[in-house]
Amino acid sequence: MSSPALTNLMHETRRFDPPAELAEHANVTADAYGSATQDRLAYWEEQAGRLTWAEPFTRVLDWDDPPFAKWYVGGKLNAAYNCLDRHVEAGLGDRIAYHWVGEPENDTRDITYAELTDEVCRAANALLELGVRTGDRVAIYMPMIPETVVAMLACARIGAPHTVVFGGFSSTALQDRILDCDARIVITADGGYRRGIPSALKPAVDEALKSCPDVRNVVVVRRTGQQIEWNEGRDLWWHEVVGKQSSEHECEAFDAEHPLYVMYTSGTTGKPKGILHTTGGYLVGCSWTQWAVFDLKPDIDVYWTAADIGWVTGHSYIVYGPLSNATTSVMYEGTPDAPHKGRWWEIVEKYEVSILYCAPTAIRTFMKWGAEIPQKFDLSSLRLIGSVGEPINPEAYMWYRETIGGDRCPVVDTWWQTETGMIMITPLPGVTSGKPGSAMTPLPGVCAAVVDDSGKPVQKGSGGYLVLTEPWPAMLRTIWGDDQRYVDTYWSRFPGVYFAGDGAKLDEDGDIWLLGRVDDVMNVSGHRLSTTEIESALVSHPKVAEAAVVGANDPDTGQAVNAFVILRESAADEGAGAEIVTELRDHVAKEIGPIAKPKSIMVVLELPKTRSGKIMRRLLRDVAEKREVGDVTTLADSSVMDLISANLAGGKQED
Ligand code: WT7
Repeated sequence: MSSPALTNLMHETRRFDPPAELAEHANVTADAYGSATQDRLAYWEEQAGRLTWAEPFTRVLDWDDPPFAKWYVGGKLNAAYNCLDRHVEAGLGDRIAYHWVGEPENDTRDITYAELTDEVCRAANALLELGVRTGDRVAIYMPMIPETVVAMLACARIGAPHTVVFGGFSSTALQDRILDCDARIVITADGGYRRGIPSALKPAVDEALKSCPDVRNVVVVRRTGQQIEWNEGRDLWWHEVVGKQSSEHECEAFDAEHPLYVMYTSGTTGKPKGILHTTGGYLVGCSWTQWAVFDLKPDIDVYWTAADIGWVTGHSYIVYGPLSNATTSVMYEGTPDAPHKGRWWEIVEKYEVSILYCAPTAIRTFMKWGAEIPQKFDLSSLRLIGSVGEPINPEAYMWYRETIGGDRCPVVDTWWQTETGMIMITPLPGVTSGKPGSAMTPLPGVCAAVVDDSGKPVQKGSGGYLVLTEPWPAMLRTIWGDDQRYVDTYWSRFPGVYFAGDGAKLDEDGDIWLLGRVDDVMNVSGHRLSTTEIESALVSHPKVAEAAVVGANDPDTGQAVNAFVILRESAADEGAGAEIVTELRDHVAKEIGPIAKPKSIMVVLELPKTRSGKIMRRLLRDVAEKREVGDVTTLADSSVMDLISANLAGGKQED
């Protein structure tokens, strides 16, 4: 279940203690761990004090009907008010909420809290005019532009849960999500910029909506000015429908458990799961963790989460966490190499970014490009750097720490998930030490354990499964429309505790090392992809009879998608050349999105199966990782692996 490379590296025992000056002024002190352990609910009650409640809650947690939790019972609040109005009321209207950086050079915008509040009020009024009511779902399919944040907060303001679909997903994926949560309004843009080229978004929406009869309106932001098709009556320009509204909007307070958003993520079956987050607990969780983990000083820090808003990292640490704390953030539209490979460092230098949060895959890419690129820029404003989304290998950690962090910035390796909503396991930079490759310990108020097959906690020095043993405020409340799947997926593997799906190891100090997924979920560049979902996409192609997908270790992307396919007889006759491989890769891009494209596709005559017909992915992973193939004794036909290996030697694999 774990990658041997990672396990071996655990023996490297470097350790970095908190820098003295950071420790002295840290937001959270060491006694937080003790007080949270002593009275966990009192601890979470105290953290809720960060927010402004229209009506106070009467009970911190209702866990009477597990695993269905209610946090801050009876409390009422508005998420948008907490992210915007209250800061303006407190005199912070002129503070910059976002230094927005478009991908084309010099295409920038600084947006203050007062401006953002006005814009969100206008958009909220526009949604109301379009008939959106409390509880209605709104789909958002956007590039990384300020209007994306405005759209999300406008939804939150009127109590309409949003579902943001990553702009890199295909029309089919968008359609599935719109249908699953029954969204009636879609907010999109004509396109966005990626590597200098305007990418199109509206055509994918048009395509998706061919089978979504209940969508009434599409609101389109003009970002690139490219030609797009227009569906009269259905399509509306954002600048027209939002532009004409008043910037006055009195917001309503919603129940703490009112749905805030649905975020889809891949599971072990083909159907993505709509993870439901609600208002009070989620906002307390994001707000407190962003402040605690990044030791945020909102009046001096410039904070940058370099992720896309289409993923949970963007929801929690570009939008809800930072805004609820009145943070000044950077938001960047494009890729790190546009128009040159120093773009990120140019941004850090220009805006004097003090806190940077990104994924190991980006760090490994920068390593490959060479230290001389960041070294050309002044990165001395940085004081703290973070990592998220996948295990960070110690080599990348050290490079990040030394080359980007100048050997002075603590690195926070933060473990969490779409489902957890907030950071769960991480060092606290002013309090705890960090070790390259370890996410260290659960935050105060968070309870995690590593357990063996029978659910018993493992000894120090041993590995097992990561579980969360107590509910936490930002936890998912269910899977949209499927309570049973929520129970089965997370709360049934080990009764009474949350099963995260990750392998983990406890070291001799009791610190936690995450070792990757233990289920059929891959992690490619910090994005979660399901092997089954990609297999279904491949099999939906008329030329494919059978498919098996595995995630193999990859030096750049952490894991890479490797597919093995058996062609239908008719197609097999045409040969198994490069064309079919290209065709299948494009097909997966069309069905799911370019991120799901297999790195390699091997055409094979048979797949390794057990006598009961289960595909032995372990053996395929051996092939993909170019290892000696492991134990084949449970195979129905042990000669299959010889065949596949011979096939590989014949060079039919395409990288
Ligand atoms: C999965 C969750 C958390 C937001 C982005 C990804 C892996 C996440 C770490 C880390 C090792 C990590 C896990 C987890 N993961 N952070 N610091 N160290 N693994 O969210 O798409 O819901 O994926 O990402 O495998 O289960 P996600």
